[in-house]
Parts: sequence; structure tokens; C-alpha cells
Amino acid sequence: MTDPKRPMVLVTGGAGYIGSHTCKILRQRGRDIIILDDLRIGHRAAALGAPLIQANLIDREKVQEVFEKYQPSAVVHFAAYAYVGESVTDPEKYYFNNVMGTLNLLAEMRRAEVDHLVFSSTCATYGTPDEVPIPESHPQRPINPYGRTKLMVEQMLHDFDHAYGLRSISLRYFNAAGSDPEGEIGEDHQPETHLLPLLCQVALGQREQIDIYGSDYDTPDGTCVRDYIHVNDLAEAHVLALEALERGAGSNAYNLGTGRGQSVREAIEAARHVTGHAIPARECPRRPGDPPALVAGAARARDELGWTPKYQSLESILETAWSWHRAHPSGYDEEGES
Ligand SMILES: NC(=O)c1ccc[n+]([C@@H]2O[C@H](COP(=O)([O-])OP(=O)(O)OC[C@H]3O[C@@H](n4cnc5c(N)ncnc54)[C@H](O)[C@@H]3O)[C@@H](O)[C@H]2O)c1
Repeated sequence: MTDPKRPMVLVTGGAGYIGSHTCKILRQRGRDIIILDDLRIGHRAAALGAPLIQANLIDREKVQEVFEKYQPSAVVHFAAYAYVGESVTDPEKYYFNNVMGTLNLLAEMRRAEVDHLVFSSTCATYGTPDEVPIPESHPQRPINPYGRTKLMVEQMLHDFDHAYGLRSISLRYFNAAGSDPEGEIGEDHQPETHLLPLLCQVALGQREQIDIYGSDYDTPDGTCVRDYIHVNDLAEAHVLALEALERGAGSNAYNLGTGRGQSVREAIEAARHVTGHAIPARECPRRPGDPPALVAGAARARDELGWTPKYQSLESILETAWSWHRAHPSGYDEEGES
């Protein structure tokens, strides 16, 4: 039950992968939350019984109703589409959902005088970086519509602060990975495009092999390098960002990564080690738009938010992913609750 006298946090996209892990931690910290998710991608079971309004941010009247009924004091905003490839073939879908949906949300926040927002941004706003690790001050030049929608929202947030005093923290995640160490929730995307769950699916015999897209990059072993960050570490950063806003911090943006990169080949080796399966791999041509290396310069989040990722090795992240996938080989669907 929610207590009407306690401040409530509205979590959009809270039934999705990162949102559900953040909701679990917010509730463990004694926060009252209300989830708004249309469940087109997310899963009801991932909400773990938290109050959930099944609605789309595009439905402005519904969003207004939620603000009037629950009177949240802050918003954590995950809801968006996040497939880079699909954003290239169907940009309308991405601009409409990610930009229009957020504009509705911000307009209703303004109307309800809610002035704290934590936003899910992405390293995809940097495009192909000039330097690695990438500092927050690096120019933002996204190379696909998905990244552009996220940059547009960051720009909207800047303007809403300037004009209306709506303070926000944009968290630019690198590669979210892993699962709830207690095994209650995990990553279940249809289709799956992320490397770690795909490796688990190969280990489970659900896929024949893992495809390596490009082995001639200018990286130590020729494959792409990414900064994998555990989903619970991301969740912790949201709690810290929210607390900072509540203490009066100004708007800001932070990279969230470990600051260390791992190549695709290193990830495959780690998956062989963690799962005990062979994980056959196949070398394929490069995919257009894949930067060779994306690694976070993560000092600002450490220095200003006091955030330190607990999961420092890819193996420790993979272990949590593997135990979720082994226990839920068909994802949430097997429980008939998605
Ligand atoms: N997964 C990553 O590695 C990663 C990296 C950088 C940024 N991000 C961003 O983090 C956020 C969460 O990512 P995720 O991997 O958990 O994605 P996800 O798809 O699992 O979760 C997004 C949730 O938002 C909901 N949603 C989408 N549009 C909606 C709308 N208009 N109205 C209501 N609900 C809506 C979906 O049903 C889903 O439950 C996204 O904004 C994504 O762009 C993710």
C-alpha cells in the first residue's frame, strides 16, 4: 500500500530491464514508487508487485491523471525505445516515442510543479568518440536516430531548467549488463540484441553461435571494446542522483561506466569461463555505425555523486546474468506474466 502523505517517485518504464532493477532498489530504500509503463516491452512480473499504471506517455490525458492522482515529488524516466538498428529503419517511431513522450511528461511535470527528474541518457549521444575514455565534456555527435532522440531530450531538459527551473540529472549509461543478484528479475528483451544475454543464450543451446561483428578494428584484439556496467550499479546511481536533486543540486550529466573496456573476444572468453560451455563464435563483417571503443570517463559521477560501481569485473557481472538466464530460459514469458 502507498502512503498518501509520503513523497512518491514516478518511474516511467519501471517494468523494463534497468527500470525494474532501479524500482527494486528504490523500494528497498523505503521509497514509495508508482510505475508508468505501457508493457509493450516491459513485463508486469518485473514490477515485483509495485503499483503499476499501464499507460503510454503519448497519452497526455492519462499522464495528467497520474500526476493528479499520485502527486509524485520526482520522476525517474526510463521509458523509451532503445534499438539502434530499428531507429535507423523506423526513425518516426523513435522520435515520436522518445521525444514526444518525454515532452508530454515534462509538460505535465511543469503543470504539476514537479521539478526533479532523473533521465536515462546514453553513451550513444557521443557518436564515434575522439578520445577514450570519454569525458562528459566530449562533444555530443550521435550517429543514429536513437542517439539523436536522447540528445534532443538532454537539450529539452537544459531548456526546461533555464525557463522553468525543472532540475534534472541525465545519466549517460554505457553497456548495461547483468541481473538482480537475488535472481528475482533479469534481462528479457524480444528481440535480444545485447552481447551478454546473447552469450547466455548460446550457452543454453538456444543459439548456435555468437556473431562477432568486425575483427579488424584498431583495438588490441581487433574486436569492439565496450564498458559493461552492472544494472544494480546503474540503479544505485539513480538513487544517488535523486538524492542529489532533493538536496538542491543543479542540473547535470554523468557518464555511468566502470571506466574499463572489454573486447567482444574477452567477453566470449569470460562467458566460456563462467558458464562452462564452449560458446562457438563466428566472425562477421563490421556493422555500420559501431564505434571501435566506447569506455566511460567515470570520475565525475564518483567525485560528485559519490558513486562507485561494485561490480568491477566482467565475470562478476556475467555470473548474475548467467544465473538469471539459467533459471529463466524463456524469460518472464514462462511464468505467463509478461
Ligand atoms: N540497456 C542499455 O544498455 C542502455 C544503455 C543506455 C541507455 N539506455 C536507456 O535506458 C532506458 C531503459 O533501458 P532498458 O534496457 O531497461 O529498456 P527496456 O526496453 O527494457 O525498458 C523500457 C521500458 O519503457 C517502456 N516504454 C517505452 N516507451 C514507453 C511509453 N511511451 N510509455 C510508457 N512506457 C514505455 C517499455 O515497455 C519498457 O518497459 C531507455 O531509455 C534506454 O534508452 C539503456
